[in-house]
Amino acid sequence: MEQLVKQIESLKEEIRAFNNGDAESFRIKYLGTKGLVKALMGEMKNVAAENKKQAGQLLNEFKLFTEARYDELKAASGNGQQATQSDMDLSLPADPMPLGSRHPISIVKNRIISIFKRLGFAVAEGPEIEDDFHNFTALNMPENHTARDMQDTFYITQNPDWLLRTHTSSVQVHEMQKGNLPIRIICPGRVYRNETISARAHCFFHQVEGLYIAENVSFADLKQTLYFFVQEMFGKDVKVRFRPSYFPFTEPSAEMDISCLICGGDGCSVCKKTGWVEILGCGMVHPNVLDNCGIDSNKYTGFAFGMGIERITMLKYQIKDLRLFSENDVRFLKQFTSGV
Ligand code: PHE
Repeated sequence: MEQLVKQIESLKEEIRAFNNGDAESFRIKYLGTKGLVKALMGEMKNVAAENKKQAGQLLNEFKLFTEARYDELKAASGNGQQATQSDMDLSLPADPMPLGSRHPISIVKNRIISIFKRLGFAVAEGPEIEDDFHNFTALNMPENHTARDMQDTFYITQNPDWLLRTHTSSVQVHEMQKGNLPIRIICPGRVYRNETISARAHCFFHQVEGLYIAENVSFADLKQTLYFFVQEMFGKDVKVRFRPSYFPFTEPSAEMDISCLICGGDGCSVCKKTGWVEILGCGMVHPNVLDNCGIDSNKYTGFAFGMGIERITMLKYQIKDLRLFSENDVRFLKQFTSGV
């Protein structure tokens, strides 16, 4: 009995002094199936009957002591699960974290927004599911107007009044109806058209349209605004030209071209040897549109313009196929990491 007491005392010393931090080797040595605690318990059979009770208590207390020390060591080495210092190389580089990148359409959209913001344009957004009035009728395209053919879209059988918007001009109608003049907004967003998908057309694309309505707004303001935009977007050397065109919602209307970014105007396959590439439609807001939206067309004038973000992006990055934008191929998308 005395011997057991002594043995336990010296083991306790040893255990208290155990401090190499390796909880697992401690567990194996003292608490494992072949460990010292088990071995001591096995000695119980040799203890005289009258001492059994006391010896049992001593051994139990010793077991608890050993377990407590094990918990302590485990906590000190981070739950005993982390690698110990010796097998960790802190000089190794960390695992690379793959970073996503913005979609090129978003990059260019944000760039367009930031340019117009500097001219005082605010961003306005509206619903992609529209009614006939906001998408067509208010914009001087009444039912059966031939111009509707160019913007065929997707309708809902249950309600022929609902459609997927063909341009974000519909957002401009919402803003005009609010009647807070002057209005100076750009409307970015997704639009839809019923077109066969090819390298140059898709059933949806993205637009930024702009609208400025105040007193005495003139075509000169329109030209200067768009000229500023082009220079900021494509560089100071780019030239612009306006060609007369037709839109039911503007009068006069124009198409704006920029000098070809590839050949600088000499003529190449991208500009079909003309030296010019079309980038947007624009014009002075038709008085009928102002009247349809409750704005006094005798007092106010305004200009509007609309461009396809895909088109601007294709020109900026020389992308040849529109379908690449919606295929989600990471090899294509990860090339556009820089903010323009
Ligand atoms: N809404 C026209 C379109 O989608 C673009 C445009 C807007 C043209 C404003 C002129 C003025 O084709």
